[in-house]
Amino acid sequence: MRVDVVSIFPEYLAPLDLSLIGRARATGVLDLAVHDLRAWTHDVHRTVDDTPYGGGPGMVMRPEPWGEALDALAPAGASPPPRLLVPGPAGVRFDQALAAELAAEPHLIFACGRYEGIDQRVLDHAATRMPVTEVSLGDYVLFGGEVAVLVVLEAVTRLLPGVLGNAGSLDEESHAHGLLEAPVYTKPPSWRGHAVPDVLRSGDHGRIARWRRAAGLLRTATRRPDMLAALPPETLDKYDVAT
Ligand code: ADE
Repeated sequence: MRVDVVSIFPEYLAPLDLSLIGRARATGVLDLAVHDLRAWTHDVHRTVDDTPYGGGPGMVMRPEPWGEALDALAPAGASPPPRLLVPGPAGVRFDQALAAELAAEPHLIFACGRYEGIDQRVLDHAATRMPVTEVSLGDYVLFGGEVAVLVVLEAVTRLLPGVLGNAGSLDEESHAHGLLEAPVYTKPPSWRGHAVPDVLRSGDHGRIARWRRAAGLLRTATRRPDMLAALPPETLDKYDVAT
């Protein structure tokens, strides 16, 4: 997968060199480049923002550098066109389903806005050439899109084939099937008076699987009743109903 990130703070994206994302880059699973938006400015001050039409507080990112950046990174007629992602609090809520959708794309471009956001015409023009998705991490406001890019790319990269040592963990983790995952334990069997549930030490894989399923359902019911309500009834079996 190819990924281009455009930001006025490329240093903010330094963690993309680390850990499993860094390894995915080193092994060629992820071809990722971070670009400084100011490379597409032409004035001595390398200006990227201006006051908003209609008045109001803050500054808006000017369209010209963004237009040139997107022309360079997504040449007209590219086939298939890349998908443009614009983080912002007015976007669609990012979730595991969107992460899976993005993991299937050959080329993503992230446009990190700062200040009050990017001139709307940049998105409108880009949409004539490629799919554009505004994406929000949640109902709060960040300074800019960079942290959201770190989050989205981490969620997407771990779904790429060859990135996780044990792909089976993808199938069992929280949100994989619309449920939260059961709690996990390791050694020692008792720690500060808290014991590991006996069933997990029983060696009975059938019982363990049922316990995990029940514990995941219970967690989902207590913490995220919205997720439980959204489960298609046919994904529940008779044992779940008894639970
Ligand atoms: N930029 C500013 N706020 C944001 C949010 N909630 N999600 C994603 N990007 C943002």
